[in-house]
Amino acid sequence: MTKVLVAYGSTRGSTREIAGWIGQVLAEQGLEVEVRAAAGMKDVGGYDAVVLGGAVYYGRWHRHARTLVRRCAGQLAQRPVWLFSSGPLQRVDDRDVSPPAGAERARRRVGARENVVFGGCLRADAKGFPAATMAKTAAGDFRDAERVRAWARDIAYDLKAAG
Ligand SMILES: Cc1cc2nc3c(=O)[nH]c(=O)nc-3n(C[C@H](O)[C@H](O)[C@H](O)COP(=O)(O)O)c2cc1C
Repeated sequence: MTKVLVAYGSTRGSTREIAGWIGQVLAEQGLEVEVRAAAGMKDVGGYDAVVLGGAVYYGRWHRHARTLVRRCAGQLAQRPVWLFSSGPLQRVDDRDVSPPAGAERARRRVGARENVVFGGCLRADAKGFPAATMAKTAAGDFRDAERVRAWARDIAYDLKAAG
């Protein structure tokens, strides 16, 4: 059975939740799935395909996602890979927003099939600086779960078509 890793770089948990939604759809579609934090991972050799996502902070793709690509570039280049970012604190679809430079570099480096941007989430009670200050004006959940799930269904379709 095709085994898929869904790895994420997330500081406040909303990108982890997106990874969970993706994992759920892939599992519903009959794929074997592991959803894991990208932090600390050094090997993706046990998986047939990888979905890797990261939050965007200060215009940069999450460092845990970037580190996984750096550590596992060779293995990733040999597998089908899909990338996503989650960030903008506004409703987005792919036409509006370019992925952060780090995700675009990763796409080129490993030959990822797609590199999409989903809206992000900042809770009104976010703690710490400058998140708490930002939350006063920019808080909200701009994740479009249905769009995420549709993207995951397309991934499942591609993987199952490839056998
Ligand atoms: C301090 C801070 C800086 C941020 N910078 C950006 C940014 O440059 N671009 C962007 O699209 N989103 C930015 N965001 C929004 C986050 O990407 C968004 O809240 C995301 O969903 C966080 O994911 P996480 O909960 O998995 O950490 C920022 C959020 C915070 C709190």
